[in-house]
Amino acid sequence: MKPYSLLWATSSVLGASWIAPGAVWTDTDGNKIDAHGGGIEKRGDTFYWVGQAASNETPQMYSSTDLINWTNLGKQASSITGMWRPKIAKPNGSFWLFGQQDRYVLSLKSSELVGGYSQSAKVHIPPNDYSYSDTGMFYDDSTQTYYLLTSADHNTVQVNRINSDGALGDMVSSLTAGAYEAPGIVKADGVYFLIVSGKTGWRANPNKVFWSTSINGPWTGGSDIAPQAENTYGSQNTFELTVAGSQTTTYIYMGDAWDSSGGASSNYVWAPMKIDASAHTVTIDYHSMWKVDVNTGVVSYPTTAKRYEAEHAVLSGRSVVRDCHDCLTKRAVHGVGDSSEVTFHNVTGTGSRQWLSFHYRVSNPEAGEAHIYVNDEPAVNISSLNSRAGYHSSTPVELLLKRGDVNTITFGATGSDGFEVAVDGIELFEDA
Ligand code: GLA
Repeated sequence: MKPYSLLWATSSVLGASWIAPGAVWTDTDGNKIDAHGGGIEKRGDTFYWVGQAASNETPQMYSSTDLINWTNLGKQASSITGMWRPKIAKPNGSFWLFGQQDRYVLSLKSSELVGGYSQSAKVHIPPNDYSYSDTGMFYDDSTQTYYLLTSADHNTVQVNRINSDGALGDMVSSLTAGAYEAPGIVKADGVYFLIVSGKTGWRANPNKVFWSTSINGPWTGGSDIAPQAENTYGSQNTFELTVAGSQTTTYIYMGDAWDSSGGASSNYVWAPMKIDASAHTVTIDYHSMWKVDVNTGVVSYPTTAKRYEAEHAVLSGRSVVRDCHDCLTKRAVHGVGDSSEVTFHNVTGTGSRQWLSFHYRVSNPEAGEAHIYVNDEPAVNISSLNSRAGYHSSTPVELLLKRGDVNTITFGATGSDGFEVAVDGIELFEDA
C-alpha cells in the first residue's frame, strides 16, 4: 500500500449533504473546489461563487442552488492571472469582477455572467492613490454595491462606492483603528457590521467586527467574532452571505482556511453567525457540520448516528490506549505513527459519499502526515487537515464506504521524531 497516493473515491457523486467547515470540499465532478478569497452572489435561485484558483490566482466560478453541491463553471478570464480575492460586483448593465492585481484594483467586464471577462480598468484606491491589498464586496439592498479596500501600507480599510458604469467611485467611510485586512460587511436589523482580520499573512488570527448604523460610518467596536484561542476557527474572513428565507434570515461567515502559502491545500470555513444588532455583536456559531435551507433560511445540523471509539479498535505497533482529557470517553489511542495504526472494523456505510468525522489530534501540524485506508485501498492523505486536527478535535472527511456494516478504516501517520497523533474515535452522521 502506498501511503501518499491520493484517492478520493471516484464513483458517481450523489450529492453532498452538509457544509463541513475546514474539510476538503469537492465539486459535482469530484474535484477539489478551488475558489479562495471569494464571495457569493445570488441571481434567481442560483448562488454564484467566484474565488481565486490556487495555481495562478485566476478567477474561477462555481454555481449551486443549495450552497452544498457546487458545479464548476470554469475559469472566467482566459488571460488574467495574479488576481487576488475576486468578487462579483453588480453595477447596472454589464457583468463585473473586481479584485487585486499588483496592488491595483483590477476590474474585469463581460457581457454575460459566466465567462468572457477581460480587463476594464486597473487603478489605485481613490481618493489617496494608495496601493491596495485585500478586497471585499458588499451589496447594500438590491441596488448599491460597495467595494471594501485595504491599503497595503496605510492600515486603512475603506468603503468605496462602485458606480453604475463599473468605475470605482467615492470613498464613503473608512476604518483606521488598526492593521486590518480581509474585509466583509453584513447588514442586520439596520446595523452594518464590518468584519476584518488582523494582518498575520497566511496564519489565522482572531477576526474582529466593527459596527455602524450607516455605510458612511463611523465604525465603532473591535470585538471578537470567535473565542480568541480559536483563531476564527483557523480561518480568515473573505465574505458574508445573507440567506433571507421565508422563515428566518441566516447570515453566513465565509472564511479561508489557508495552508502555509495560500496554496491548493487551502480549504473553506463557512458557518452561520449570531448577530445581536442591539448589542452590536457578531459571533460565529461553529458546528463541524451544518446546512441551511435556502428557501426557509433555517439552519440544521446532523445527528450522530454512531461513534466508533479508538480504544475498542485493533491496534498495531506502538499505538496504545491511554487517558485523554478532551475525549468523550476520556480514553484515546496515542502513539499513532509509522507502522503503528488503529483499525476500525464493521464501520457502517451508505454506499454513496458520506461525511465522517475523525476525532484526532496531532502534536505538530507541520511535522507529519495523517492518512486513512478505506477497505485496504490506497491511503487517503488527510494531512492537509492537520492544522485543524491540531486545533479542533473534530475533522470531517467525506468518503465513499460500501453499504452495510462491512467497512474497515485504518488510521495511520508518518512524521518526524516527536510527531504524535492521538485518535479518539470516528463519528458517523445521519444523512438528511
Ligand atoms: C493575507 C492576505 C492574503 C494574502 C496573504 C499574503 O493573508 O489576506 O490575501 O495577501 O496575506 O501573505
